[in-house]
Amino acid sequence: MRTETPIMIRLEDYRPSDYLIGTVALDVSLHPTATRVRAELTLAPNPAGRAGAPLVLDGDDLALVGLALDGVPLAAEAYTATPSALTLPNPPAAPFRLTIETEIDPTANTKLMGLYRSNGVYCTQCEADGFRRITYFLDRPDVMAVYTTRIEADRAEAPVLLGNGNPGQAGAAGPGRHYAVWHDPHPKPAYLFALVGGRLDHVRRGFTTSEGRAVELAVYVEPGKAGRADYALDAIARSMTWDETAFGRAYDLDVFNVVAVSDFNMGAMENKGLNIFNDRYVLASPETATDADYAAIEAIIAHEYFHNWTGNRITCRDWFQLCLKEGLTVFRDQEFSSDMRSRAVHRIGEVRTLRARQFPEDAGPLAHPVRPRQYAEINNFYTATVYEKGAEIVRMLRTLLGAPAFRAGMDRYFADNDGRAATVEDFLAAFAATSGRNLDAFARWYERPGTPRVAVQGVYDAQARSYRLSFRQSLPGAPDAPPLVIPVSLGLVGAGGPLADAHSDRVRDGVFVLDAPDDTLTFTDVSAPPVPSLFRGFSAPVRIEMELTDADRLALLRHDTDAFNRWQAAQSVAMRLLVQGTRSGALPEAAARPFTTALGAFLDGEALVDPAFAALVLALPSEADVANEIGSEIDPDAIHAARHALRRQLGSGLADRLHRLREALADAPDTPFRPDAEAAGRRALRNAALDLLAAADPAAGSALAGTQMATATTMTDRLAALAVLAQTPGPAREEALARFAETYRAEPLVLDKWLAIQAGISEAGTLDRIRDLQAHPTFSMTNPNRVRALIGSFSMGNPTQFNRLDGAGYALVAETVLALDRTNPQVAARLLTAFGSWRMLEPGRRERAKSSLTEIRGVAGLSRDVGDILARTLAGSTNP
Ligand code: TRP
Ligand code: ZN
Repeated sequence: MRTETPIMIRLEDYRPSDYLIGTVALDVSLHPTATRVRAELTLAPNPAGRAGAPLVLDGDDLALVGLALDGVPLAAEAYTATPSALTLPNPPAAPFRLTIETEIDPTANTKLMGLYRSNGVYCTQCEADGFRRITYFLDRPDVMAVYTTRIEADRAEAPVLLGNGNPGQAGAAGPGRHYAVWHDPHPKPAYLFALVGGRLDHVRRGFTTSEGRAVELAVYVEPGKAGRADYALDAIARSMTWDETAFGRAYDLDVFNVVAVSDFNMGAMENKGLNIFNDRYVLASPETATDADYAAIEAIIAHEYFHNWTGNRITCRDWFQLCLKEGLTVFRDQEFSSDMRSRAVHRIGEVRTLRARQFPEDAGPLAHPVRPRQYAEINNFYTATVYEKGAEIVRMLRTLLGAPAFRAGMDRYFADNDGRAATVEDFLAAFAATSGRNLDAFARWYERPGTPRVAVQGVYDAQARSYRLSFRQSLPGAPDAPPLVIPVSLGLVGAGGPLADAHSDRVRDGVFVLDAPDDTLTFTDVSAPPVPSLFRGFSAPVRIEMELTDADRLALLRHDTDAFNRWQAAQSVAMRLLVQGTRSGALPEAAARPFTTALGAFLDGEALVDPAFAALVLALPSEADVANEIGSEIDPDAIHAARHALRRQLGSGLADRLHRLREALADAPDTPFRPDAEAAGRRALRNAALDLLAAADPAAGSALAGTQMATATTMTDRLAALAVLAQTPGPAREEALARFAETYRAEPLVLDKWLAIQAGISEAGTLDRIRDLQAHPTFSMTNPNRVRALIGSFSMGNPTQFNRLDGAGYALVAETVLALDRTNPQVAARLLTAFGSWRMLEPGRRERAKSSLTEIRGVAGLSRDVGDILARTLAGSTNP
């Protein structure tokens, strides 16, 4: 059987709902396999809808138990109920009340959408369309209602009962049972509904908002883990304060609860007043969490909290507007993290993610606009493009308007759209209104897939002391596309430092706006031949094409005032060496020497001033980065070899310095653990040094790593050492891996790191190792974190082995996708996106990848999730 032709949902087909729902009274009686849900909805025809239309409520896998209209049971001929819809062909023309009873089985719910159990804890996930797995409903974000939820459960099984909004009555409900009522006064779409029931410990604190509201904040975790919830709790309070100051947004309920569960399809979910999290983004202790974990917890706590205004108070009219809440909220969490940590370091991290995840997506068969125009399965559009490129669009808007005008536009957006389900047009209209600017051309960023290219050429006229920069923008595959509005933050740098006198009247506050296909910019009073520093802070998500010499770039590394471009300069030099090394199959030492020398000088001057930044400058582009740069006929083994050669050369060329740095950055004994950016930066540079030293001298590196494993007091240091040990075959490695597993045998989140390190080993034996690990007690196909740690890390983080010449890497991933598709299609589909760049490979691997994809396609009964990704991956870009 072939996958059926999917039904496409199209933006142009949007029409308002024929009915609206005013209030929802839910009564959920929790039971492991037979949970009863009684939903009482007040409905009315929507004046903006079609009069007299049938009422069609969405369902997914539902069983109807009872149905009444205005309190009277409905006759069988008055409705039809299937697992996927409840239809009343002739509903009343006046407001009416519908009482729907369904029975669901949370234990059998392996999709982790709707109501399910995670380690015995009842929880829900309703975005994008999971509420319809709980009861029949108008499950679309522009239907917003006020919810009251009564939750009932066995007291022993679920002593904690949480819902949206504020807590109401609670008490006994028959033998062994109890109940709690929650009321959420803010109208919301069904995707923001949530409830939790289970045995949970918690930590809590008070918070008083800028408006004087007293709020009780709490983080709920599995019993015994409350000691690991403090950092998340603190991050909530810091997020709340930050949103008040940075955006004037205060919290609007009496409680704010976060619950950590261990089985979760994505990172976390912003349900109103009751955020539910993947536990890996809540739980942290120095013994179990790395610095990266702490940073991710802080960022995701902030992200979900910020959704309270950008997503919840103002929600999306339809799922095509997903970037309205996600791109904007990512921008907000990025700004928060930048304020909490180092702005430059954070920006580099953001751009690394964008280039590693969004650029390849935009260059491959799954490319789509930030606001897609059609979809077969919305869950496949929670993508790097919607999230990260969506955030870049908001950032460009701020760059174009300036911070004060941007804030004014945001204020206007909140004022005009509070309580509404809005669109991208509503968002842009607020900025157009407050700034007086026409943003029609800027809006093209939402419509055009693909990463724009900006080609730049510079000509210096010594006599006229002028410098001319000409720009040309283009979109690959769309030669006739109208131009985008591209903010170019820029400046000129000379051999001895910034050329402060150089100026151009086309550059305002350091920004030149490129809004034509080509344009030319002339600087005057340029006292010396300059090196242009373009797209400072990565001011637009484009690929820049400019012929600069390595000497020019190394001058930028030395003298630019923009930290991002200093880092970029080092990356570009490294990238050129890596591409050259990949193509020629060799990387002569002489070719890399100027780079090594420049890095040495850089480290001498600045490593101890800003270790976090220095660690980023030392980190070479990843193998995947190099593949994306080369773009076609990829041979992952050649890339790996080139990168290894450059690491080895840097490691030996800088060895003395790296050793000294490790000593200078060592913590004094009894230094208390701090997870902040400064302490994390020292660890990052120490470990970057270790990695390069080990590349140059594996035996000495393994010895250093062994000592570090034994003496480390943080998970960051222990894991960095293990990662180094893992690169060298032999008993030391196997012993270290075994000891680590033994130490953390009761810590699944730590074992995930152990799984990931092994899945990433660039050796032919890795495939067998993974097969063994699939049988390890910690591994489970039903827990998304375990699957991502082992199989996801392999497919996305081990280019040489995933792309094995014999196709066995593809086969392993394809096999996992198929197995998982039977229980959790959403996670299966995500895993399948690892094949997204298959057309870039050299012909042999390309054929192997294709045959794995075709094999999946031959399997009967694929989910819509997997079928959709598969069809697009095989078809090429069909979603312009
Ligand atoms: N809205 C969530 C966020 O970005 C993400 C999300 C969408 C999600 N669908 C989900 C999380 C399904 C878990 C499961 O914050
Ligand atoms: Zn989000």
